[in-house]
Amino acid sequence: MKRNIFYLAIISGSFFLQNVSAQLKYRKIENFNKGWLFYYADTTDLKDDYKNASYNDGSWRKLNLPHDWSIEGEFKKEYPASPEGGALPGGIGWYRKSFTVPAIAKDKNISIEFDGVYQKSEVWINDHYLGIRPNGYISFQYDLTPYLKFGGEKNVICMKVDNSKQPNSRWYSGSGIYRNVRLVTADKIAVDHWGTFVTTPLINDHSATIVVKTSVRNTSGKSNGFDVNTILLDASGEEVARKTEKGMMSKDGSTEFPESFVLKNPILWSVKNPYLYKVVTQVLVNGKMVDDYETPFGIRYFHFDVDKGFSLNGKPMKLLGVCDHHDLGSLGAAVNVRALQRQLEILKEMGCNAIRTSHNPPAPELLDLCDKMGFVVMDEAFDVWRRGKKKYDYHLFFDEWHQRDLEAQIKRDRNHPCVMIWSIGNEISEQRDTSGFRLARELAAIVHSLDTSRPITTANNNPDTTNQIIKSGAIDLTGYNYHQNDYPKFHERYPGKIFIGTETTSALETRGYYQMPSDSLYFWPYQNVNGKRVNAKMNKDNTVSAYDQVRAPWASTHEESWKIIKKYDFLSGMFIWTGFDYLGEPTPYSWPSRSSYFGIIDLAGFPKDVYYMYQSEWTDKTVLHIFPHWNWNKGDSVDVWAYYNNADEVELFLNGRSLGVKKKQGDDLHIMWRVMFEPGTIKAISRKNARLNDKVGQGKIVLAKEIKTAGVAAKIELIADRKIIKANGEDMSFVTVRILDADGNLVPRADNLVQFKIDGEAFIASVDNGDPVSHEPFKASYRKAFNGLALAIIQSKEKPGKVTLTATSEGLKQASITIDLK
Ligand code: GAL
Repeated sequence: MKRNIFYLAIISGSFFLQNVSAQLKYRKIENFNKGWLFYYADTTDLKDDYKNASYNDGSWRKLNLPHDWSIEGEFKKEYPASPEGGALPGGIGWYRKSFTVPAIAKDKNISIEFDGVYQKSEVWINDHYLGIRPNGYISFQYDLTPYLKFGGEKNVICMKVDNSKQPNSRWYSGSGIYRNVRLVTADKIAVDHWGTFVTTPLINDHSATIVVKTSVRNTSGKSNGFDVNTILLDASGEEVARKTEKGMMSKDGSTEFPESFVLKNPILWSVKNPYLYKVVTQVLVNGKMVDDYETPFGIRYFHFDVDKGFSLNGKPMKLLGVCDHHDLGSLGAAVNVRALQRQLEILKEMGCNAIRTSHNPPAPELLDLCDKMGFVVMDEAFDVWRRGKKKYDYHLFFDEWHQRDLEAQIKRDRNHPCVMIWSIGNEISEQRDTSGFRLARELAAIVHSLDTSRPITTANNNPDTTNQIIKSGAIDLTGYNYHQNDYPKFHERYPGKIFIGTETTSALETRGYYQMPSDSLYFWPYQNVNGKRVNAKMNKDNTVSAYDQVRAPWASTHEESWKIIKKYDFLSGMFIWTGFDYLGEPTPYSWPSRSSYFGIIDLAGFPKDVYYMYQSEWTDKTVLHIFPHWNWNKGDSVDVWAYYNNADEVELFLNGRSLGVKKKQGDDLHIMWRVMFEPGTIKAISRKNARLNDKVGQGKIVLAKEIKTAGVAAKIELIADRKIIKANGEDMSFVTVRILDADGNLVPRADNLVQFKIDGEAFIASVDNGDPVSHEPFKASYRKAFNGLALAIIQSKEKPGKVTLTATSEGLKQASITIDLK
């Protein structure tokens, strides 16, 4: 058998592209990210000769994809994106790439696949116009075959990306070819693009029925007989079943082959054991293999019950989810697998088991990771339909494009076991008019024509019975955004219906900032007082207290929503707004803020305190988390909160003196002591079985946590999340910078400016500190600490070796860390 028959050389680069799918022998899928040239045309340069193959692009910037040009810019309030869009530049960008295709590929089909380009991309190959794709989140492909030159001749592909018309988004979108690009070489008779569909319609204790529908396309120009082998492999690569189907296909068409298997003793996919099988599809013509194609899948069943809520494989399980936008903080929208994986790891540690891809189709790598790591996904299509929310948003393209975009999303994502809910819209304005009725039916019909194995929802901020989308009957799963006080009466409103909290909470916090008293509630950006809107006064430095005491007026604190969801079985689960802070939407819209405060975790990936409330509720881990820091003024009244579990009570000590034992009562999720500050040590001890001794303070110690008053900043500490990374040009190590006093205590309000130096085959991909107000650039080798912490993200080049990161700051003892590149 021949291996990798086709090679693709790049003229402008000095390297051969790696084959990303080493297992496939007949279909060649190549990473096409490297060696692009980029020109930022802004909005004033409207020339379009950049699309001409002969254009001299010698002076253009060389870069590898994925690329987001907005994140490289300066923050300015005046940019048309506005702070709501992240206050970064949009404009027009051009990308070009030259490459050759070997003569041997002449009788093949060659297509280019884009996972997402923000936005309005137009593509030319060798002066031939391939098309436009306005939607910035959708995956699409073009067939290059008729326009390619083979052998030594140069091909030039050009792309214009137009993100100049803004505002077009209610959050930060990024700009450019920010997701992966592949070149696919396949036979004239081959599995179609997104050509397989795997479902597992029947599962019981002993067996599973697996249905694989394969669409094979014939572009050979003649009728052909062929065989299709459908082979099932388990996670170790062992073949567990196989079928062969004979087919005859007239020229230039596609045919669907349905196969059905009964697999004995299947291992089910779950969030705890995300076990993946794989379908390998082989196409043979006259007994000769011409194509092979892989489709990972999982065997699982799930159910939304009217009374009992969600269950996975027959076991009740609340969906403990978060909503997230697609940006990766300081890395912008440019997708990176390790950065996505790190986000999911942090969420998993918290006990989160579900993700809502608000409000658009995600990067395919996110779904791959959710399949592998065990997250349930609500895969969302749109934030608007025909009625826009922003002057230039998708409503301008909806009529012409919604069908193609929605079909592309469903076809691309329907084999992922993690995807269990399709959302066809977030807070769609047509909830309130009769066109919502018609459109909901139309969109649901599109989804159902491609997949009936998952329920369809919409995220409704107007969830009452006047909602035209709900009225249409097209929605399987009734989604509430907020309105948590109406949840208990859901069945009075919607008898016999199933419920999901599509979006909840919208509480706000600045990591590490605390406002007393902690038990008074604040609203941002306004509050309703006697039916009137009263704008909230922002703290001067745009900070928001990290006690769970600040929320949007339409929303709830973290504790309020979770208490309700926890209480009623029929409430299938919740998707908290949001897991991570994101760029844009800095509610309250108060410049200089340029990113959100909604995250349970800040933009740099540092958990805020409420993270541990969820951890104490959503996991079996033993938790004791106390806050705030212990640097106050003598005599200040300071509220000390503790989140804990697996214990009966907690005792608090100040400089060795007991401040009393407390325990959660009723549905409490935290305990609190009001303490007169004095410097020293605040210490909490959680205990179990205290009652057995019939005396408080006598149980078995479960955990102890203490915080000391920090002295002046004296040194830097560096902690890498991984000290060995792959030398593949993509892998990353996230290095946390901590500002410590001489005794090693974190200095809680430290804002020292830290300079980074890097030695070795890696570079600083970006820096951050989680401060929503900072205007320092993300692409830099320096960063101020924010409340004691900063972050440097190290990205490998392509050479193995070692890299040393050194952090210095005036007056502080420096620190270095070495990371192995393998
Ligand atoms: C929701 C909306 C989200 C976000 C959130 C902020 O209404 O769906 O996109 O804007 O509010 O609270």
